[in-house]
Amino acid sequence: MKVTSSSQTQTNSLIVLIGLMGSGKTSVGRALAKKLNFKFVDSDELVEKTVKLSVREIFVQMGEVEFRRLESSALAEACRFTQSTVLAVAGGAILRQENRTLLKDHAKCVVWLDAPTSTLVGRTGRAKHRPLLDADPVGQLNQMRIDRESLYQQIATYKIATGPFSVADVVNQVIETCELSVAQAVVN
Ligand code: S3P
Repeated sequence: MKVTSSSQTQTNSLIVLIGLMGSGKTSVGRALAKKLNFKFVDSDELVEKTVKLSVREIFVQMGEVEFRRLESSALAEACRFTQSTVLAVAGGAILRQENRTLLKDHAKCVVWLDAPTSTLVGRTGRAKHRPLLDADPVGQLNQMRIDRESLYQQIATYKIATGPFSVADVVNQVIETCELSVAQAVVN
């Protein structure tokens, strides 16, 4: 589903994946980057690399406000890369207006991945980097959906449902909807 048009003008391509925790940003992003021969960047991993602490340690030792500040710096750094890049943006980064503007301005295509909450809960059960889901994952994800949906909507070029689909299927849908050149893709 087409949501909004992109204002990006640069020649290197930045493909941005947004969505709630468990929507498939990292697994789809990694596979998409491999297929396109693009660099892959996950904003959580970039933050962790910068401060040499895990997301969970940052939340515990520095608090969420500081995590959000580090997240904004990581996104700004990723948007300065000169290589074509697939950027998986952690679920809460769109809460800040500055991040939404940055991503919208730099991306060739912003893809919002979504799945039913029951699917998100199943997929997030095993991950350690999600302290916000420790207490009540279903309640938290439902509330995040309410709080964040309009923000994802604001910057998304396309919305893609990942619930029933394999990673490979979603990758192909992103390539098709973002009209990424087949020549850019590595033929398997
Ligand atoms: C968060 C999402 C997580 C991670 C942190 C907070 C959020 O990233 O940044 O646990 O607020 O939605 P993923 O979306 O990659 O799981």
